[in-house]
Amino acid sequence: MESKFLEARTEEIKYHEKFYAEHDLFAPGTWLAKPVKAIMDSLELLDPNDLRVLDLGSGVGRNAVPIAQAIKMYNGRVTAVDLIPSAITILRENAIKYNVYDNLVPIIKDVEDYQIEPQFYDYIIACSSLEHVATEDVLRSVFTRMIEGTKPDGINAILMNTEVEEVDCETGEVSEGLIELNLKTDEALELMKDCYTGWEIVVERFMPQSINEIKYGKSIEFRGNWLTFIVRRSS
Ligand SMILES: C[S@@+](CC[C@H](N)C(=O)[O-])C[C@H]1O[C@@H](n2cnc3c(N)ncnc32)[C@H](O)[C@@H]1O
Repeated sequence: MESKFLEARTEEIKYHEKFYAEHDLFAPGTWLAKPVKAIMDSLELLDPNDLRVLDLGSGVGRNAVPIAQAIKMYNGRVTAVDLIPSAITILRENAIKYNVYDNLVPIIKDVEDYQIEPQFYDYIIACSSLEHVATEDVLRSVFTRMIEGTKPDGINAILMNTEVEEVDCETGEVSEGLIELNLKTDEALELMKDCYTGWEIVVERFMPQSINEIKYGKSIEFRGNWLTFIVRRSS
């Protein structure tokens, strides 16, 4: 179990370091091309004044940069956390390039250990990052910290891959995805609903997703269900 986690973590870091080095933020035709619509749509539900946003597993800023741009004129601020130092270096460069250096705070940290200030954030997002924590218990503890860190009326947006498989594009061989936490879609939803009992569900859906990647030096189709769970705390 532990060695599988380490293998998955090593591959994930390798993949993201290379991908971020080779593709600019918002590069057309890549998954960095634009922010995730559901995340930007949910931002609109919040009072824009003095917004505090936390992006867990921000990468190089696909969502953090557009959010920082949208809330800058209202004194809003985004804190963006990622495990990979080179991702945070590129995020800093992107913050300068897109003129949000003053209201985007990049932090190198594993979300598993990141302490979220209680009742501090209006909007906490985790986009395609929480499938990279070690276990279901760790995921639950991250949700607990997200919940405690959210102000009344605040929103949490969790988007994650579930039921991941990898197809070797050359041989067609299908294997279970090498990912740190490969939950069944139902299990993930059940866990989320249990943790977020009493919150209003804004979006709950999943759809099949497929991305072609170069991984392990091979061409791989990464496929699974793309789960979107967006919830709002009642006041
Ligand atoms: C698929 S990328 C998504 C990046 C960004 N959220 C986006 O939507 O463009 C996943 C990101 O999560 C980060 N990540 C994975 N596990 C993490 C962890 N335990 N703590 C912090 N960041 C993590 C990776 O370094 C990577 O940048």
